[in-house]
Amino acid sequence: MKVALIGANGQLGNDLIATAPKKINLIPLKRADIDVTIREQVEEVIISIHPDLVLNTSAYVKVDIAEDEPEKAFLVNAVGVKNLAQACKKTGAVLLHISTDYVFDGKKIKNKEPYTEEDIPNPINIYGISKYAGELIIQNYLEKYYIVRVASLYGKAGASGKGGNFVYTILNKAKKREPLKVIDDIYMSPTYTHDVAQKIWEIVLEQKPYGVYHITNSGYCSWYEFALKILEYAELTVDIKPVKHTEFKTKARRPLWSPLKSIKGIKMRRWEEALKEFTLSILS
Ligand SMILES: NC(=O)c1ccc[n+]([C@@H]2O[C@H](COP(=O)([O-])OP(=O)(O)OC[C@H]3O[C@@H](n4cnc5c(N)ncnc54)[C@H](OP(=O)(O)O)[C@@H]3O)[C@@H](O)[C@H]2O)c1
Repeated sequence: MKVALIGANGQLGNDLIATAPKKINLIPLKRADIDVTIREQVEEVIISIHPDLVLNTSAYVKVDIAEDEPEKAFLVNAVGVKNLAQACKKTGAVLLHISTDYVFDGKKIKNKEPYTEEDIPNPINIYGISKYAGELIIQNYLEKYYIVRVASLYGKAGASGKGGNFVYTILNKAKKREPLKVIDDIYMSPTYTHDVAQKIWEIVLEQKPYGVYHITNSGYCSWYEFALKILEYAELTVDIKPVKHTEFKTKARRPLWSPLKSIKGIKMRRWEEALKEFTLSILS
């Protein structure tokens, strides 16, 4: 099976390359090879490769800055996705697109239930709205698609668009003995890109039914609990305090609750187990 990977330089892109099964003929494409915002280029590249599947991990991911430059977020996350969807339609390729827990508003905090594939999105910031627009475009243009929602990613490469990830930030500050204040009233499912990548290849090779899938490590925690576990696994001691989200003024509103769960048979290991493996691997 021939797969064109868009966003090959990214955090998830790197782990998709690292975990690609032998049966997959993977064509990794960086931004210099294909800019999803340029329609003619997208069409030309996809037609010339003629893949069975286009795997799109590219995105505009700056959640706060997006509030000031919505056109840039929409250009990549909605128009870019439309360009890919059209190229897939033309060539008959399946589109597997990565989306986010930020399509949800967090109101399920009331009963502390994770969001499933059946919940209706209602994004509350520009990034989330632009990602949801991408989802709707795919659903309107294509029949052969997978929309894979992931959340709070960390991986060896660090997010290219965000300049790292939460795990690296905590470890770097702790090593410098900087006191930490971490939000303890926002909950999510921390997720290892290596685990997501492996599950994506499973979905592709098993040819699971098309549609929306939630792929995160199982369970959830607050950012503060996440930070405590990182320090525990790294055996670092530092002054760390829980704070409310209202103490950190940010441009974008964030859902206070965005744990994801699959009701489509996607089984993933616990976030603590994945985090331990990741932390030990980068420290060794
Ligand atoms: N990181 C998270 O916590 C998180 C949470 C939920 C969902 N997600 C979703 O997961 C996916 C992967 O995220 P990630 O953490 O791997 O992000 P990342 O490391 O920033 O990777 C995104 C990649 O997209 C590329 N890109 C940006 N604009 C492009 C364009 N116009 N044309 C082609 N490529 C372009 C970037 O290229 P350059 O390297 O050249 O900049 C980068 O390599 C995204 O869809 C994101 O929305 C992420």
